Amino acid sequence: MISREQVLEALSLLQDPEYSQSLVELQFIRDIMIKEDSVSLSIIASREGEEYAASLKEQAVQTLRSAGIADVHVRIRAISDFDRKEVIKRNAAASIAQSQAKQQHQHAAPSPAVPSNLLGPESQVKFIAIASGKGGVGKSTVTVNLAVALARQGKRVGIMDADIYGFSIPDMMGIEERPQLVDERIIPVERHGVKVISMGFFVEDNAPIIWRGPMLGKMLKNFFNEVNWGELDYMLLDLPPGTGDIALDVHQMIPQSKEIIVTTPHATAAFVAARAGAMAVHTNHEILGVVENMSYYECSKCGNRDYVFGRGGGGKLAEELHTKLLAQIPLGAPDNHPSEPDYAPSIYKADSTAGQIYLSVAEELINRE
Ligand SMILES: Nc1ncnc2c1ncn2[C@@H]1O[C@H](COP(=O)(O)OP(=O)(O)OP(=O)(O)O)[C@@H](O)[C@H]1O
Ligand SMILES: [Mg+2]
Repeated sequence: MISREQVLEALSLLQDPEYSQSLVELQFIRDIMIKEDSVSLSIIASREGEEYAASLKEQAVQTLRSAGIADVHVRIRAISDFDRKEVIKRNAAASIAQSQAKQQHQHAAPSPAVPSNLLGPESQVKFIAIASGKGGVGKSTVTVNLAVALARQGKRVGIMDADIYGFSIPDMMGIEERPQLVDERIIPVERHGVKVISMGFFVEDNAPIIWRGPMLGKMLKNFFNEVNWGELDYMLLDLPPGTGDIALDVHQMIPQSKEIIVTTPHATAAFVAARAGAMAVHTNHEILGVVENMSYYECSKCGNRDYVFGRGGGGKLAEELHTKLLAQIPLGAPDNHPSEPDYAPSIYKADSTAGQIYLSVAEELINRE
């Protein structure tokens, strides 16, 4: 009688064209039923269309026949969103396991080719996490512009988009390319002098991810272990909004990280932001200061300032957290156009009002070194 193992071994020769992995490894062979000399099974098709389904079926039948299994019934099933997520999850888990095994191996025989560990005690990198109490206040905008400002001052800067559900950094910086793999390590994408890694690079077609806590923590660790960051002076971390699991993970993973808290000028926003500040204090992270974003609208004709979202929130928050109000950034989108080379929707030009404010924050941080 035919065995299940025999069937899988024969089919392990077949590759999925989308994932470039074997159908068996992808767990795309389903519902195997064996009755004496006959086998029936389903195969998940990652590509749409009759043509692919027909060729997949034909290949499977031929392969099993060559293995001596003549009576074969193959059904083709279209891949579901769930299947896709399972593949991403399994592959991530496998790469994590691999990197852990590699690390253990490296412990046994240290290799000089591996750059110094970003998180190790000898690391000189200054970590700055950008946090807020609630969403939409401009954390990601502050992250990219502060990073670019530090780079404009000649610093070597990385951004880790730790907002794993709501990653937005690649779009904001106008990044369309994907990181390259060199010597089995991921090379961050460089834009405006800043090296960037984001979950957005590893998710296909913006498909939402439904991973939970432990998985996410591992993903962040991968951003450290699997990425060749090269030499850095600063690493900015764009945190997800609020004081949830991921923010806590980051706090615990990078105890040496300092923080910038972003708020709008409204009193209640500052009140909510104080929670993020409280968490930083609780986890012994030094707060570098508060950035008040969307502070006012300045009339381009008369220079008059309108405090559209209220006034004083940032100052009050800084006082409460015993830190400094680093900047008040006015309302206004960057004056950029898609036709420009290096177009980035959210990066202010160096000579714009906001661009100058970000440069002065960068300068202040550098002077504190
Ligand atoms: N100073 C500003 N003037 C005008 N628009 C701004 C300003 N700062 C940010 N924005 C816009 O506000 C929106 C929210 O900003 P951003 O995505 O940076 O916030 P966030 O805190 O990272 O949000 P989330 O919590 O969703 O991650 C974006 O559309 C951004 O372009
Ligand atoms: Mg954001």
